Amino acid sequence: MVVLAPWRSLITHALYRNRSLPSARYLQLATLGLDGFPRNRTVVFRGFREDTNQLQMVTDNRSEKYQQILKQPVGEICWYFPKTREQFRLRGQLLLVSDHTTDSNLSKARCLAWQELSDAARIQFAWPIPKQPLSKDKNAFKPLYISQDRPLTNFTLVLLDPIEVDHLELRGEPQNRYLYTLNESLNWNCQQVNP
Ligand SMILES: Cc1cc2nc3c(=O)[nH]c(=O)nc-3n(C[C@H](O)[C@H](O)[C@H](O)COP(=O)(O)O)c2cc1C
Repeated sequence: MVVLAPWRSLITHALYRNRSLPSARYLQLATLGLDGFPRNRTVVFRGFREDTNQLQMVTDNRSEKYQQILKQPVGEICWYFPKTREQFRLRGQLLLVSDHTTDSNLSKARCLAWQELSDAARIQFAWPIPKQPLSKDKNAFKPLYISQDRPLTNFTLVLLDPIEVDHLELRGEPQNRYLYTLNESLNWNCQQVNP
């Protein structure tokens, strides 16, 4: 079993203290575009994968980020919590858990993520292909039936496995900034640095 990273409880605590703000679960995920330019977008945090330090997000395998992550499986999350006025920047490896994933634990995590989505979120995976010219068929956005148990094939669980976490607290005089880095023995070092 993986030792839970010291920054994990800080994120859990920040989520708790910002729980009155639904937007506190939105974070920005940056990836590398196929052209080498950065790409960034908002996604919903879907919890930590059980007994790991991996952050879970979900996406559609027809979206551009899927191909970007397939080619360069690295990314950075930037996450600001307004109530507690703190920012987390988490950099690491990205892993796509798709319909083709054979690892049973990962497949289970993908199924669970699907089951925990709201109906409104699940329906989006049956919408026409993202970023194509707007479909003229309005019914295309009103799918008839979607299973709550079995994910649609395009549904993808995205995992970020951080190797560095930069935590900035604006509260304080001066501000507090802590750098968490994963060393070769897979232990986390923490150092307070200048803000
Ligand atoms: C508040 C908010 C939450 C979003 N949540 C998700 C999400 O969980 N997963 C996702 O793929 N896109 C989500 N999106 C849409 C993305 O920001 C983005 O537009 C879409 O995924 C296409 O990105 P791409 O072309 O870089 O792949 C969200 C957008 C907003 C504004």
